[in-house]
Amino acid sequence: MRTFISILTLLITIISAVASKSTVDTSQWLGRNIYFILIDRFAGGDAGCQNGMEWCNGNIRSVTEQIPYIKKMGFDAVWITPVVEQVEWRDNWNGTGYHGYWAKDFNKIDPHFGTPNDLMELSQTLKDNNMLFMLDVVANHVGPIHSLEDVANLADGINSVTGEQFHQLAHFEDVEFEEYLKDPYTMMEAGDKCWPNYEFGEGCDENVILEGWFGDLGDLNHEHEEMAGYLLKWIRNMQKTYDIDGFRLDTALYIPKAFLEKFQEEARVYITGEVVTYNETLHSSFQGPALTGLLNFPVTEFVKPAFSIGGSANFVDFAARLENQKLIYEDVTLLTNFVDNHDGDRFLTNHTVGQLKNALVWSNMWHGIPSFYYGTEVPAVAEATDCRTSQWDAESGEFLDGSETEIGELVTKLNGLRTEFGLTFGGEKAASLGSVVAADEEGWMAFERAGLMVVVSNEGAEKACFKSDCCPGEELLGLEGEDSVGVQCDRDNVCVELGGGIPLVFSMESC
Ligand SMILES: *[C@@H]1O[C@H](CO)[C@@H](O)[C@H](O)[C@H]1NC(C)=O
Ligand SMILES: *[C@@H]1O[C@H](CO)[C@@H](O)[C@H](O)[C@H]1NC(C)=O
Ligand SMILES: *[C@@H]1O[C@H](CO)[C@@H](O)[C@H](O)[C@H]1NC(C)=O
Repeated sequence: MRTFISILTLLITIISAVASKSTVDTSQWLGRNIYFILIDRFAGGDAGCQNGMEWCNGNIRSVTEQIPYIKKMGFDAVWITPVVEQVEWRDNWNGTGYHGYWAKDFNKIDPHFGTPNDLMELSQTLKDNNMLFMLDVVANHVGPIHSLEDVANLADGINSVTGEQFHQLAHFEDVEFEEYLKDPYTMMEAGDKCWPNYEFGEGCDENVILEGWFGDLGDLNHEHEEMAGYLLKWIRNMQKTYDIDGFRLDTALYIPKAFLEKFQEEARVYITGEVVTYNETLHSSFQGPALTGLLNFPVTEFVKPAFSIGGSANFVDFAARLENQKLIYEDVTLLTNFVDNHDGDRFLTNHTVGQLKNALVWSNMWHGIPSFYYGTEVPAVAEATDCRTSQWDAESGEFLDGSETEIGELVTKLNGLRTEFGLTFGGEKAASLGSVVAADEEGWMAFERAGLMVVVSNEGAEKACFKSDCCPGEELLGLEGEDSVGVQCDRDNVCVELGGGIPLVFSMESC
């Protein structure tokens, strides 16, 4: 009897362990197109405040009000920057926590952004519109901490002044936690020593990556059971409370994979991780057992250079990387592709609008989940040197509607085509892979996906000639200048005139 009971107990344990390890259902993300919002800068904030490091008071309720605007352009998912309560830090160098990445209390909503109820309403509004809700979260660190008092001011559960909840890389025997806090970054700026390629050795090894601090941001100790428990309980609670469909996980590269695996399990939904490296081997190792999705940083190494004239890389490099990704990632359809984000100069600061169109045609028509950074559709925002400038008029505070600008109309059209050809959520070909047909150093690339032939360029090439079994049919984007585009098919040789560099999307009826 006893043996029977213990066998039974064992069986139950095994069954529940297997059940709790159930794979996360990511299917509802397939074919989605994300509109990415920096809450403090998108809508509803203070007139006059449009850049810099101060709080501008854009807020969650104003995001909710703009859902029809976002939907009208054809987006079906919204990613917002972190909402948790921020430390009240302010200095001339790093500014304030307006961006949301400096947590003080993971379980509170920062009043600058709004209330828990505002967040519920946003979640419900998205649901009512058949759109998905992606929340940005940080689990690697809290905000700046410089003293034991700063630590004590953090929320219960992460405010122990004894220091064991924080990593202390290169901590000397005779140094107290209090001393350490004054200067945690001199020896161990993970970013500085390892950027950009994580070439291990010479000051950069895995330990530096995992336990080093990002400047003065208190690096959480994921090996500390209580600390890990706090974060796991929190993410489960956030997902449940606000019915969140997906998370974007900040600074995921600096978190041990064993913890990420548990975090992904507790989140129960798609997570796209921020693993900032161009090293594809390192990057791809985060998808699978650790996270379900990743922001596609390795490709960004070539996006800006390829879509420019005389850049440090060209379409041959870009195409090679795109193709190689299919071989090394567990699932390339769950990679999040982007042209712009909140951590680098916007594309238009050193490219033309035409080049931007080409880059957007790539990110929207290639496989993966495209993410479109707020304001890319508004010239005054997209051309600003501050990549986090507000999407409201500096003087009046009025929201700048970009749905009918050149770029607004382009993305609307692309989303329409995506739907028409079954590439969006629920579409027959949402999981189909793109395939490079040809790429040329002169500055163009042709690829096929789901019965479409796409030709993008850097505006520098006059003609794209390549071998293909299919002759391009009707051109579907119909951008201005398209009438000057000519296509010649001679057996398996195709030549497409690029009409000054406009991106082209052809049907491939005539194979
Ligand atoms: C890229 O990452 C892999 C896996 O972590 C590592 O073995 C390799 O050394 C890295 N490459 C470079 C150039 O550092
Ligand atoms: C904040 O500013 C200090 C210099 O005042 C710098 O050393 C530190 O790295 C900065 N923190 C971050 C997160 O950038
Ligand atoms: C544009 O600037 C980015 C940095 O923001 C750089 O990586 C890229 O090479 C530049 N491209 C051109 C064409 O100058």
